[in-house]
Amino acid sequence: NWSMNDFIDMKIKHIREEVGDKKVILGLSGGVDSSVTGVLLHKAIGDQLTCIFVDHGLLRKNEVKEVMDSLQGKFGLNIIQVDASELFLNKLKGVTDPEKKRKIIGKEFIEVFNQEAAKLKDVDFLAQGTLYTDVIESGTNTAETIKSHHNVGGLPEDLQFKLIEPVRSLFKDETRHLGEELGMPANLVWRQPFPGPGLGIRVIGEVTKDKLKIVRDSDYILRREIAKAGLDKDIWQYFTILPGFKSVGVMGDGRTYDYTIAIRAVNSIDGMTADFAKIPWDVLSEISTKITNEVDGVNRVVYDITSKPPSTIEWE
Ligand code: XMP
Repeated sequence: NWSMNDFIDMKIKHIREEVGDKKVILGLSGGVDSSVTGVLLHKAIGDQLTCIFVDHGLLRKNEVKEVMDSLQGKFGLNIIQVDASELFLNKLKGVTDPEKKRKIIGKEFIEVFNQEAAKLKDVDFLAQGTLYTDVIESGTNTAETIKSHHNVGGLPEDLQFKLIEPVRSLFKDETRHLGEELGMPANLVWRQPFPGPGLGIRVIGEVTKDKLKIVRDSDYILRREIAKAGLDKDIWQYFTILPGFKSVGVMGDGRTYDYTIAIRAVNSIDGMTADFAKIPWDVLSEISTKITNEVDGVNRVVYDITSKPPSTIEWE
């Protein structure tokens, strides 16, 4: 029955005792867990913390800027931002298998992180935003063998860092409350779940720059319209997918042959099971019109009406 403030005080004390005057590095992903971990650590040890933010080019529209503006701009975290988008695109060239894509993205992420980390001197600790759920999930959970989630276990073996995981005892919503208590903005703290491989698994099949742009722009419109309709707090996770096939459409007097965008929106407690969200028809209609009007190369929008099981939330 502890309060969040007691937790913060206790954690800060522990972190200071453990770290002493040594240096800590942390990989930022743009997600809640690593962001909250960063802000908490920064509060405890200030500039002894260096964050490395690997931009794999698979994040949502404006996400990199939002994270930098907030964590570096407002909270003053020391962040090294690495734009590795071209590297990731190259590594993903010709790869269509979802698990291969995940493995490549996870491996490159660690590699880029290690390269940056190696440039820093006298670092003793590696911090991670591991949650209690990650600890459980990386154990015996069968879903883990269905899709490899690379949140835990990606620790480089050759690096001699001591591991520090200040939110390891917390569940997701406790971490969000911790973030709020630390003064973090709602758009960072209450963001919907977003997979580590990002848009890389929302472009079905081979990932290309053009396809990433389509899925990123349509996702932005979906989020904008959902927020406009006041539904952003009601739906657990919602995003668009580019299945990658083309179909015939009509525009003006002409025939088009363009991509289809799929909308996925689900309600869930923990992501293990999920129901498809029943977005009102008029909102869906608006989303469809906006996507086909504003995103070049799209002439059809479909709505995924399957729950989990038998589907998964992501399409890959
Ligand atoms: P699925 O698609 O397995 O997704 O029903 C369940 C939840 O997990 C997220 N997800 C991932 N998160 N790395 C992650 O960090 C991944 O590779 C990954 N795959 C799925 C998904 O967005 C949903 O919230």
